[in-house]
Parts: sequence; C-alpha cells; structure tokens
Amino acid sequence: MRRRETAGGARVPTLIVHGGAGADPADGRDELRAGMRSAVAAGWRVLGDGGRAVDAVEAAVRALEDHPRFNAGRGAVLTATGTVELDASIMEGDRLRCGAVGAVRGIANAITLARRVMDDGRHVLIVGDGALQFARAAGMPECDPASLVTERQRGRWLDRERTAGAAGTASAAGTVGAVALDRHGTMAAATSTGGIFGKLPGRVGDSALIGSGTYADSTLGGVSCTGDGEAIIRVALARRALDYLKEADDATYAAQVAVDLLVEEGQGQGGLILLDWRGRAGYAHSTPLMPVGLMSPALPEPRLEF
Ligand code: GLY
Repeated sequence: MRRRETAGGARVPTLIVHGGAGADPADGRDELRAGMRSAVAAGWRVLGDGGRAVDAVEAAVRALEDHPRFNAGRGAVLTATGTVELDASIMEGDRLRCGAVGAVRGIANAITLARRVMDDGRHVLIVGDGALQFARAAGMPECDPASLVTERQRGRWLDRERTAGAAGTASAAGTVGAVALDRHGTMAAATSTGGIFGKLPGRVGDSALIGSGTYADSTLGGVSCTGDGEAIIRVALARRALDYLKEADDATYAAQVAVDLLVEEGQGQGGLILLDWRGRAGYAHSTPLMPVGLMSPALPEPRLEF
C-alpha cells in the first residue's frame, strides 16, 4: 500500500477539476462556469460524503463528458473524417492501479470505460474496436456515435472542410480532468478528451496514457494534463510534474515548472492541475484560459478560478 500516515489520522478531502487549457476567453464564459460548477459539485457529492477519491474523479469527469461545451464525451471535437473518437484514463494511487481507453467510438462516458479496465485489472490500455468489445462484455451502455456530435463541433468540421483542412486549426480545447484526495489519504486522477480537432482516425493522445496525461501516487500526489497531446507525451508530463513536486514540495511551483517543461522541451502548449499528498492544490497553463474548480471542507461552495 502506497500511502503516508499523518499524526492526525484522517486527511482533509480535496478536489480539483479542469476544463481544458484551450478555451477561448471571449467565448461563453458563463456556460463554462456553469459546467465547471456542476462537475465540482458532482465530485464533491462523493468525496464530501466520505467517498473514495477514484469515485469522485470519475463523477466529476462524467459531468463534463455529459456537458456539450467541453471536448469530451458529447461535445468532443471531430476527427478528419467527421467522427468522434475518445481517449480517457484513470488512476488510483495506493497501488498504482490504472485503466485507459483510446480511440473508442459509441461510448458516451469513456472515463467509466477506463474505470472498468482498471477494475478488471488484466490490462491498462485498450483501444479502438477492442475497447468497444470490452465495453459490451462489461455491459456498458452504447450510444449512437452521431449523438456525441454537437452542432458546434459539426460546424467547425464543416468550416475546416470548406478550407480544405487548413493548417493551424488543430486544437485540444476542452479536455477535462480531475484529481482528488480522500479522507483515507488515497489519491486519484482522471482525464477524458476527444483529442485534437481534425486528428487522423486512430490517433491516440496523452489523455489515454498513464504517466503522460494522468498519474496518481498516494505518497506523492496526483496530476491531470491538458493541451497538445503529442508534446505532453514527449515529456511524460504527468509523471514529471510529480517528480518536481517531490523535489520542491510546493504544488504551485511544481505545476509551473512542469508547464515550462511542456513549452520548452515538449514544444507545445497546455496546462495541468495537481494535488500533493497532503491535498495542497496547484495548477498552471501556458494558454490564455484554463477553467479550474476546487472544493474542500473549508470552502462554502465550489471555488472557480477563471
Ligand atoms: N490533450 C489531449 C490530446 O491531445 O489528445
């Protein structure tokens, strides 16, 4: 069991949620705030009641997958061929248990499918048709893939078609994620996304990769990343952020140094949220906006920091 004991016994539960580092600051801030508030509330209903961190991060991410404004579940960006392919991963830090899915179609809540992979325990990452077969065997509900396509994303895709796939339109706006510490001292992290707009079918990004988009170790902390997936993968960003946290013991500093690494060595843009093993929160981003929401017993209601 990877967990630190504290003198006082029970830990203060804490939840941090992000809504992606690519949001346009001038576009629908109230809608983003409403979505973030309901996601933090969904996670806190679990965590504040004494529930497990892994259940809380799954609940928070599901809420954002169900919200059409975020790039995950319904509302995800479209591939070059106009389809939705989802990536997600989840990790619990006591035993480094983790599960992930990549390029999955016809499942509205990829994070819950990733959770099933984790709980099943045979594999860490299942992709494409194999992930769909696994979902069927696990009895998960399937959806019409077209039901995940929103008018907003369809419009973007049609614009791209009209400009013959002009370069520079790719964006990972709105990947979602959550990190939680529960009162037992267990850390969990989860991330879900539609990936980057106009990606090739079959492309899998950082959000499906443990150590890149998601990591949790109850002796160190938990991380969820957002941004340019290829750059995040190059620098194994989530795990590297925890290394910085271990060295500096300062959540905000570790988050900033990790984002500097993404920009300078990874040659990409993005952001991340993290909690240290005591529940101290940090976040940073290199983009103009990354919606962040926080909740702990000291707060009367979810605190939005954007
Ligand atoms: N960070 C999301 C992606 O690139 O797929």
